[in-house]
Amino acid sequence: MNETPQNHHNSYKRLIEGNRLFALSQQIKDPEYFKKLSLGQTPEYLWIGCSDSRVPANEVTSTSSGEIFVHRNIANLVVHTDLNIMSVLEYAVHVLGVKHIIVCGHYGCGGVRAAMSRKSYGLVDKWLRNIKDVYHIYHKELDAIEDPDKRADRLTELNVIEQVRNLAKTKIIQRAWHDKKTVHIHGWVYGLNSGLITELNNIHDEREDIDSIYQYDFDF
Ligand code: CO
Repeated sequence: MNETPQNHHNSYKRLIEGNRLFALSQQIKDPEYFKKLSLGQTPEYLWIGCSDSRVPANEVTSTSSGEIFVHRNIANLVVHTDLNIMSVLEYAVHVLGVKHIIVCGHYGCGGVRAAMSRKSYGLVDKWLRNIKDVYHIYHKELDAIEDPDKRADRLTELNVIEQVRNLAKTKIIQRAWHDKKTVHIHGWVYGLNSGLITELNNIHDEREDIDSIYQYDFDF
């Protein structure tokens, strides 16, 4: 493609054209498609993924509109002081009633790479500090991996595992379990090279994996 400034300026137009094509092809496949979707959503899954443009939740799981409630941020972090993700989580679990929550990291994550380095990138440093904390927990295992790519891959996996635990540490999830709701939390990692997802860990109940210091009482 010709990368003249003029082309660049108008590059957004192919998104609008793509949208027209999408709307038309869905209408042809199922004339009731948009009418049905407009009635409401009952997604069974909450996806917490990376903002990375190469890991779109629906495409990599062959799912359609209406099936996955999605939250994405840099390096798929579950931060308890983040009003955005906590609102998404509470709404997904207690209003939509999702049955499965998926934290999906990905190999080759720029956020994980940046967190492993000593470079600063601005505001995002504060966000990525959470990954440095994950590194700190597992520093013996990680420091022993000489190949920086392999070390980044392992940190990507450990980060997902810790974010799954961070979900289980929220009162939102613990309240769902206390109320006997089915909420399974899954840790996945997506391979940019293969397009394949690997399952890492999952938690069904707080007693399995969460230290008692993180458990809340519901007696009041
Ligand atoms: Co990423």
